[in-house]
Amino acid sequence: MNRNIAIDGPSGAGKSTLAKKIAKKFGYIYLDTGAMYRAFGLFAIENGVDFTLPVEDNKKVLEALTDNFTLDVIYEDGNQQVYANGKNVTGLIRTPEVSIAASKVAVIPKVRLKLVEIQRNIASKNNVVMDGRDIGSYVLPDAAVKVFLTASVEVRAQRRYEELREKGNAQVTYNEVLSDMKFRDANDSSREFAPLKQAADAVLLDTSDMTEDESETALMEIVKSRIEE
Ligand code: DC
Repeated sequence: MNRNIAIDGPSGAGKSTLAKKIAKKFGYIYLDTGAMYRAFGLFAIENGVDFTLPVEDNKKVLEALTDNFTLDVIYEDGNQQVYANGKNVTGLIRTPEVSIAASKVAVIPKVRLKLVEIQRNIASKNNVVMDGRDIGSYVLPDAAVKVFLTASVEVRAQRRYEELREKGNAQVTYNEVLSDMKFRDANDSSREFAPLKQAADAVLLDTSDMTEDESETALMEIVKSRIEE
């Protein structure tokens, strides 16, 4: 049986940066499950879904779209690439519009079940560090290590804001990032099926007052103590 590491938490908690480092250190594959919801969100946008409408109004059309959606996760030079219906969408799914769409499609159980099946399949064949919202609580209940990584919403928004500015997004404001983050926190935590929540057996790591290096050290300690015991 493979050994899997589940890292869950709200957006902007630093999951992907830290999960990648853990994967490298232990020689595991890193799977960013958010990219899968993002790929489906983009597919829905391309198919004309209006995400300003309430989710219930889009439920039937989103369910129908899952039947026409194929998703492949491929590793090129060790980097995850996401292919939606044969097209590499990895570079297209990091926009604020796709972030909101991903959070909205993630409410629909049929969408989740389709993506969870792919996630479990990858974890059954590889040692995986998987990050998301429901990995420890739903996708991989038997993971060897479960961490719930979080930080205050203000700290997470500040980190995401700086990252977007560094990437050249000069228009974005801190308040926009903060309000998107609050929306996604509420939406991801309040959905009925597999919401964002700390698994009962997950270790809580709050990095609000930690630098990136300190967070990495703290996380490494948690993982090592469980993987090497
Ligand atoms: O981690 P991220 O910001 O890329 O995720 C985008 C959205 O996808 C997030 O707002 C909620 C959803 N998501 C989810 O519901 N379950 C996961 N395991 C991963 C992401």
